[in-house]
Amino acid sequence: MGKSFDIGLERLTGIGVPGIGETQEGGVKPPLQDTSADLKIGHYVDASATKGGQAGMVVPQESTFYLETFGCQMNDHDSEKVAGVLLARGYRQVDGPEAAKVILYNTCSIREKAAQKVFSRLGELRPADDQEGKSFNTEDTEKEHRVHRDGRVLEKNHPSLRKIVNAGGGKIIGVLGCVAQQEGEEIFERAPWVSLVCGSASYRKLPQLIAELEAGNRRVTGLDTDTDETFETEITRRDNPWRAYLTIIEGCDKACSYCVVPFTRGPERSRGSASILDEVRRLAEAGYSEVQLLGQTVNSYADPSARKMRFSELLAAVAEVRGIRRVRFTTSHPRDFGKDIVEAIEAHPTICDHVHLPVQSGSTAVLRAMARTYSREEYLEKIALMKAARRPISITTDMIVGFPGETEKDFEETLTLLDEVQYDSVFAFKYSPRPNTPSLKMADAIPEEEKGRRLGILMDRQREIQRVRNEKLVGETFEVLVDGKSRRENQWSGHTSSNRVMNFASPERELLGDYVQVKVVSAMPNSLVGEMVGRM
Ligand code: 5AD
Ligand code: SF4
Repeated sequence: MGKSFDIGLERLTGIGVPGIGETQEGGVKPPLQDTSADLKIGHYVDASATKGGQAGMVVPQESTFYLETFGCQMNDHDSEKVAGVLLARGYRQVDGPEAAKVILYNTCSIREKAAQKVFSRLGELRPADDQEGKSFNTEDTEKEHRVHRDGRVLEKNHPSLRKIVNAGGGKIIGVLGCVAQQEGEEIFERAPWVSLVCGSASYRKLPQLIAELEAGNRRVTGLDTDTDETFETEITRRDNPWRAYLTIIEGCDKACSYCVVPFTRGPERSRGSASILDEVRRLAEAGYSEVQLLGQTVNSYADPSARKMRFSELLAAVAEVRGIRRVRFTTSHPRDFGKDIVEAIEAHPTICDHVHLPVQSGSTAVLRAMARTYSREEYLEKIALMKAARRPISITTDMIVGFPGETEKDFEETLTLLDEVQYDSVFAFKYSPRPNTPSLKMADAIPEEEKGRRLGILMDRQREIQRVRNEKLVGETFEVLVDGKSRRENQWSGHTSSNRVMNFASPERELLGDYVQVKVVSAMPNSLVGEMVGRM
């Protein structure tokens, strides 16, 4: 097992907090989905990380890096660790590629348009004199569709750099993450100005790869997936001062027929329970009150140590760490979701009452074609476990529409599943054919237009469900962790344990990071509006 990380975390203060106006509706994060609209609330790093490089390392004065992240929370958290590695080497993080010596893109390839984005970015970095690179589509076209709790369909475009950055002048350009793993050295052919290509399963090698580039190597790669190590670093720069992410299992062994993750992130590797608990204790001591345990299939956690802790036991142990007030976990796979997890939630109020349980389709025939390993009925049994819990558990999910061969009847079954489960939030996607995946070659592709039609119907249906569900909460009081302040006076925002966004009024001067009691006065499909009635 690798080294633990976050040794001696200390808080740095004085970094601005964006107003909730820009982000309040994007505040509910789809577990392991694109989180680029997340509140970025200051940067908290190990203080030692800013004090220069490792012993014996000569890092030029002007060593700066720019790191842009696409994709899920795992990627966000990997980027926190990558930033930690660079900060420890004496690099300074900058806000834009223009001022950076090292430009890194941590990429996502879960759907085609997400993968295209990095090539669009790389096109913007093409040196003026380059003759070799293949043509790029520099249009920033990626749009993702989500039904958030306010029912709005969010179509999110990443901000384009707008300006073409000339990659000359000795800049190091690197592609990390899932596109790096998937495209490998082909990236050098398409963009000869790239010098580092490294997939997430090889991040342990990153310090060494960066050292090779600093020593003058032109091109370096880290593309193995056959590692049994997880990416742990001594220093992680964390983006959120209250919620700390913690990867407990990396990779995926499930082999869903549409999914690139088993190819891009490699096989499942779990981190030892003692190392996880050590880190949680250090996080609590450093002032974090919420931890989110991450994994593509977090509940498939298999403790590699002699202790052999089950996932539900680990959850309980994390929940008992002094100073931890909220424990979240994402994403759960229905196959490995058992009663023991619900019992852990019931027994530990610090484990949040929210489970993200992606179903993907309401039709057993489609689920079989997707190789999801459960039927509609078996999935509903897992839902019944949660509905029978002693305290209400908020359930959210992911759906794919337009999978090859999905008939109108199959789609109807997805709609009736929405009615039956009554989700609090759904992240819905049009099926996107991906390289290497078994479903790529399946017959009966659904036309794009039809996928769009089905997506629209699904979102309308879910929006109405969320509207009705949230309206029933008017008059109730919830504990809220305050994580946003509006530019408007006396307006704050935060999340409930069930991960609902709560916007509320309070004349208090400083509430960020506090736990407060908020009474709901009105509701939208995607968020609640309340007023503060007390502190915790
Ligand atoms: N096409 C569309 N959506 C996909 N997802 C994963 N692969 C694909 C694909 N090829 C969705 C699933 C998964 C979420 C992270 O992304 O819903 O749960
Ligand atoms: Fe992809 Fe399926 Fe693994 Fe999730 S469980 S990461 S959808 S292969």
